[in-house]
Amino acid sequence: MGEQKRASDAIADSASAGKLKSEAYFQEKDLWGFIHRSFTKSMGYTEEDIRKPVIGICNTFSELNKCHSHFNELVDYVKRGVWQAGGVPMEFPTISIGEPYVKPTTMLLRNLMAMDTEEMMKAHPIDGVVLIGGCDKTVPAQLMAAASANIPAIVLTGGPMLNGRLGGRSLGACTDCYGFTLEHKAGNITDEELAVAENAICRSDGHCMVMGTASTMASIAEAIGMALPGCAAIPAPDSRRRHMSENTGKQIVELVRHNIRPRDIMTREAIENAITVTMASGGSTNAIIHLVAISQRLGMKLPLETFDAISAKTPFILNLRPSGQYQMEEYFEAGGVPALMKELEPLLHGECLTVTGRTVSENLQHARTYLRDVIRTMEEPLDSQGGIAVLRGNLAPDGALIKQTAVSAHLKKHTGRAVVFESPADLNARIDDPELDVDENSVLVLKNAGPKGAPAMPEIGQIPIPQKLLKKGVRDMVRISDARISGTSYGALIVHAAPEAAVGGTLALVRDGDEIELDIAERRLVLRVSDEELAERRKSWKPPEPHYDRGYGLLFHERVLQANLGCDFDFLLPPELRKEYKERI
Ligand code: FES
Ligand code: MG
Repeated sequence: MGEQKRASDAIADSASAGKLKSEAYFQEKDLWGFIHRSFTKSMGYTEEDIRKPVIGICNTFSELNKCHSHFNELVDYVKRGVWQAGGVPMEFPTISIGEPYVKPTTMLLRNLMAMDTEEMMKAHPIDGVVLIGGCDKTVPAQLMAAASANIPAIVLTGGPMLNGRLGGRSLGACTDCYGFTLEHKAGNITDEELAVAENAICRSDGHCMVMGTASTMASIAEAIGMALPGCAAIPAPDSRRRHMSENTGKQIVELVRHNIRPRDIMTREAIENAITVTMASGGSTNAIIHLVAISQRLGMKLPLETFDAISAKTPFILNLRPSGQYQMEEYFEAGGVPALMKELEPLLHGECLTVTGRTVSENLQHARTYLRDVIRTMEEPLDSQGGIAVLRGNLAPDGALIKQTAVSAHLKKHTGRAVVFESPADLNARIDDPELDVDENSVLVLKNAGPKGAPAMPEIGQIPIPQKLLKKGVRDMVRISDARISGTSYGALIVHAAPEAAVGGTLALVRDGDEIELDIAERRLVLRVSDEELAERRKSWKPPEPHYDRGYGLLFHERVLQANLGCDFDFLLPPELRKEYKERI
């Protein structure tokens, strides 16, 4: 114990003396120095090796996470880079979260992964770390961890899948997953045709290849300065991702040498750059929750109004599905995130430092667009505004989101009568009931699908169109919930309504037949029910039973913040922010 204390004192001293953390483990002549050297050498590292900066490589390979199935190969290339630059790589695991399998939803585990990653970074003799992520929640979890641990770090994303191909058409996961199952449900395609589509859509390693959450978060890692330029869009199986992996390994050693840390890079201006790129890309609504969480880890509040203000002045210029036409493979060919950022340069903070050791503007010097139909100019955008609008009104006093670029034109301003589902289970039970009193002008409302309600705010905000309307050819309706949506979904989907129904938000008080008004241009979402009537209804409202009575689920239930505060756990915020938010926790 005494020696243990001496070792940790030495580690703390080394940090203040500007020495590497690993030196305190491997250079001390005391008992713990002896043990550290001896145990490390037993793994084949030599005396010379343990004098180099130690680079942790966070490998989130898992056969339970398809999007990370190729990570072992990427790690080999990262290691090559680390050795070449004079570091010593040490690979370590954390939990890995893949969208398709994890129940009830990956969002339940994002904070757990962030905690796992942060504690692994802090507890070991790691001077710098390469964080390898890909699937939706993994990159945000790793960025949250990097923000809190604040040791030199660089993100390497695993890259998107190649385009699915079928009958001369490009297919995208999972935008076309919805399309195929919808048409199958409507009786327009056979079981056999569905099976052919299943096999054609995902045909390589990598994450979803539309501008869904994974592609959005990979773009954000790059735009915020934490990944090397060009990293986000290289398809997973492309040889250039191997080169990128090797270069990332080299660069982390440089970051350690120059002591460049995540908080030197992820400043408020860098976060604004990430928001600008998200808005110009038609990026996922999930990015808002994640960026708020990352920003709060850095001690900065990030109100939803910031997103709306940036969205309003940022043209939508990236022609990628689900809002546009192409997919990540074409984005890569068009020049990727650097080309997009070059177009957006007048809107960006060019002075921000990045993991290259250079500024955003310096990185963009030679960037150019190779396919003009994929990356438009700001003068000829796809839309004059960014993808995501923040709605306010009595139905969502703390805000709600809509991905306006994916809304059918006739629904951008709409008033209709509510058809209410009390919970996800109620929705599943009744949505296809032929007796359901619903038409194409109705507004579908789903309650109790928020952070505490569902639990963990699953991606079920894409409330299905009732089958009887599908058969009549209806493909879009206004739908409102406190859930999230997949970044690959489309339609008039109002999500993240805050406060959520399970904590008594107005959403909890909506009844069948109430009139609801949506006006995207005016950013309005109004329940046309008087305050007196709402107060009356509130008297009989009771919170639903929590989903857990023990374990991590209970911790999540008790400590998760609302969507507009990033769904982080209150105790993971810096103390100053925790104090400020006190009454909202
Ligand atoms: Fe991993 Fe879509 S399932 S990104
Ligand atoms: Mg997704």
